[in-house]
Formats: sequence, C-alpha cells, structure tokens
Amino acid sequence: MTAFDASQLGHWEQDVASLAGMLVHEVKNPLSTLNISSQLLLEELGDTGSARDQRTRRRLEMMKSEIQRIEHIISSFLQLTRPQQMQRDAIEVSRLVEDVISRNREAIELDGINILFQPQETPKVAGDAALLHQAILNLILNGCSAMPDGGELFIRVLISTYRGGDAVVIEVTDTGVGITEDAIPRIFRPYVSTRDGGTGLGLPTTLRIIRLHGGTILVESEPGQGSRFSVVLPTEGPSR
Ligand SMILES: Nc1ncnc2c1ncn2[C@@H]1O[C@H](COP(=O)(O)OP(=O)(O)OP(=O)(O)O)[C@@H](O)[C@H]1O
Ligand SMILES: [Mg+2]
Repeated sequence: MTAFDASQLGHWEQDVASLAGMLVHEVKNPLSTLNISSQLLLEELGDTGSARDQRTRRRLEMMKSEIQRIEHIISSFLQLTRPQQMQRDAIEVSRLVEDVISRNREAIELDGINILFQPQETPKVAGDAALLHQAILNLILNGCSAMPDGGELFIRVLISTYRGGDAVVIEVTDTGVGITEDAIPRIFRPYVSTRDGGTGLGLPTTLRIIRLHGGTILVESEPGQGSRFSVVLPTEGPSR
C-alpha cells in the first residue's frame, strides 16, 4: 500500500503560467480564423459536385476537425495556466457531490460500474461550486477509466482535520488497475496520460482547483487492487 500527499509537489504552474498564457492567446486568434474559413469553404462547396469536389470536401472536413482539436487542446491548457478567479460561496459538499453523481450516474452505470455514495452532513466549505464540480468529476471519470471491465466506485464525504483546522474530505475509491508507487507523483504533471484519447490535464487541473481552495489531494493505491483519491478541503477556505 502506497500513501502519498500531493502537497509535497512543487508549484510548477507559476513558472510557466504567464508566458504560456500569452502564447496561447496569440495562437487562438489565427486558429479561429482558420476554423471560420474552413466552415465557409465547406458551405460554398455544398453537398453535391464531382468526385473531385467530394474529395476536397472530405479534406476540408478533416482540416476543420483537426483545427477544432487544436482549439480544444489550447483551451484546456489555458484553463490550467490561467490565474483562476475563485468564488467563495458557502458550499454544502455532500450536496455538490450528489449533484455531480446524479448528472453522470447513467453514463457511468452503462460502463458496468456500480456507484455507491455515502453522504455526510458537514460544515460548509468556502469555495467555488463550478470548479469543485469539475474537480470531483475528473476524479470520478479517472476512477471509471481505471475499470475498463467494470467495478465499484465508492464515494464518500467525511469530516476530518488538515493542518490543525477542520476539513471536509471527499474520497473517490475505485477497484481498478491501481497506480505504481513511482508513477503517483508523475500523474499530477500536465500531459501525463496512459488513457486512449486522454489529454493528461485532468489531475493537474484538479490539483490546481483544490490548492486554490487551500486543500490537497491524497492518493493511496495498490496495483491490481484499486486507488483512492481523497480531496481535502479546509472548512476555513484558503488564506487570502
Ligand atoms: N483512479 C485511477 N486509477 C489508475 N490510474 C489513474 C487514476 N487516476 C489517474 N490515473 C492515471 O493518471 C493519468 C493522468 O490522469 P489525468 O486525469 O491527468 O489524465 P487522463 O485521465 O489520462 O486524461 P484527461 O485529461 O482526459 O483527464 C491517467 O492517464 C492514468 O494513467
Ligand atoms: Mg482524467
């Protein structure tokens, strides 16, 4: 059994954030021009035409879809590096988790995964509902990806302490492939992914969100048995 506290990782994002953000902004404008132009060309070409027109159409469609893929990569990257404005609403964590689960339950169960949720009344957390929703969903989706042949996803909310203060913990436990000890610190780095079609931005974005809330993520894993990701949210919120 490996136990790991993500608070020991360095804050790499501050170093790359400003330059990367500028670069991404510059690239987005020409990309959106390309996107619009390819759309206009497709419309001009219409549905019918010679075999040559149809070939052109296919190539244009391919160009358009690749342009959109680049836009997606760029905007997820921007989201990761952008200095994040955070709401400080009083969040009922159990409610929020329940909401994330109920919006995704059907899709997850279709993949042969059984979700169990154990709610818990907790003190409210000063936080941003949309960001926390995204963070919890990322962990749930990762747990599901770790169980390609189905399994159990156990989610619970509990009261704990962190750095001498009260905290609310959200545990997401799967019965999936698990993660080796040396791989655990790596999975929080951007673009590290073993998943087909994964961008590897889910966990770094999630850690960033939780750190914005003054919290951390703990990982316990046993290869072949499963993993538990625990999000620790101090009830006092981040120090301003
Ligand atoms: N619950 C888990 N069990 C096993 N491996 C995991 C788990 N969560 C994350 N990982 C590993 O960490 C990698 C990085 O996760 P991360 O969420 O950052 O990216 P991703 O899921 O691959 O892609 P995406 O950007 O779409 O989230 C995964 O590809 C996987 O190898
Ligand atoms: Mg992910």
